[in-house]
Amino acid sequence: MDVLTNISQLATCPDNNDQADIGCIEDAALVWEHGKIRWLGKQVDLPAEYQKSYAQDCSGKLVIPGLIDCHTHLCFGGWRGNEFAQRIAGKSYLEIAAAGGGIASTVKATRDTSFQDLKQKATGLLDEMLALGVTTVECKSGYGLDFDNEIKQLEVYAALQQEQPIDLVATFLGAHIIPAEFKDKRSEYVELLIGQLLPEIKQRQLAEFCDCYIDEGAYTLEEGRQILQAAAELGFGLKIHAEQLTYTGAAALAAELGAISAEHLERISSDDQKHLAKAGTVAVSLPLASMYLKDDYIDARSLIEAGVPVAVATDLNPGSSPSGHLPLAMLQACLYQAMSPAEVLKGATSIAAKAIARESTVGSLLPGHQADIAIIDAEDINHWMYHFRANACVGVIKNGVWQHNRL
Ligand code: NIG
Ligand code: FE
Repeated sequence: MDVLTNISQLATCPDNNDQADIGCIEDAALVWEHGKIRWLGKQVDLPAEYQKSYAQDCSGKLVIPGLIDCHTHLCFGGWRGNEFAQRIAGKSYLEIAAAGGGIASTVKATRDTSFQDLKQKATGLLDEMLALGVTTVECKSGYGLDFDNEIKQLEVYAALQQEQPIDLVATFLGAHIIPAEFKDKRSEYVELLIGQLLPEIKQRQLAEFCDCYIDEGAYTLEEGRQILQAAAELGFGLKIHAEQLTYTGAAALAAELGAISAEHLERISSDDQKHLAKAGTVAVSLPLASMYLKDDYIDARSLIEAGVPVAVATDLNPGSSPSGHLPLAMLQACLYQAMSPAEVLKGATSIAAKAIARESTVGSLLPGHQADIAIIDAEDINHWMYHFRANACVGVIKNGVWQHNRL
């Protein structure tokens, strides 16, 4: 039995439809045992049976559910610092991609990197994320774009699941771009995805979700529909990179296909918002991609008002978002997406959990839920978001086990 005492604000982040309701308990205590939360409430009400257990005094800090990064491209070879410099100098992301850079250059680097080296690099990124309080990470393939290399990326995730504490949720993104060797025979690549990769991945349970990037320079709406329908028939949950650089109708497709989430959405219409609300699809906002591409930020206010839950994630990848700093993405969501600190916290906990179908076990602090907990050196959520620091997280508990303790 483990106990946290002297918590100034305990944000339980209940899984409900009110994005601003973080379920705060002031002057709280929390108890867990065997990896599960047993009790939480006002410290004055701590039952006598827990009072003799080992207790960590939080000295008046904020305690939240372990953060969930529900959209990353975690496994990739190389980096693209040269493109960052080109974009600063005025080139656009699409211009760089059309000249052979962009995703295609990371595909080449990922194919040229061994399983071991990819795994080691991703481990380093996960270590940094864990220290920030992130305890669950969704991770996409999509830089292999052939049979062996897509499987290689997903196998890296399967191995990492065994070797480090963060829970990983894998997504197949074989439909990221059309690989160069299929440029003039797109339908053959789509056939490889549908006929070979999806069944293999399903059979080996290497991914739970299937994603597709529908945009200029990537997939058409019709190709996306074909791939995602095939994935749904095999039992994959669906996600779509939608309306990022150009408007394609992909957000409406996400709603039509009952996708669990639609990502990016920088360019959606008010009709799309209604469709997503009706379908119960989570909007995953990726503010760091907007920042790095100097693009528009998502209109989170009207999405929330339309009844669409808005998650906040990093989009960690070597191109549009070379950072896995979720608290920085959260700060940006406050400043540029007009979300309150409380709404943002829900977006990176219980709503993020919903975007990866994990809301019954993580994302909220409730008795019976997994003891995934972050302790933040701030008196409350407003103070945490406002006083930005490299890392304000001073304690991380994953599955009931302390991973970091700087208290
Ligand atoms: O989510 N938009 C498509 N995919 C990624 C970018 C990947 C890359 O640039 O390597 C994204 O932003
Ligand atoms: Fe992405």
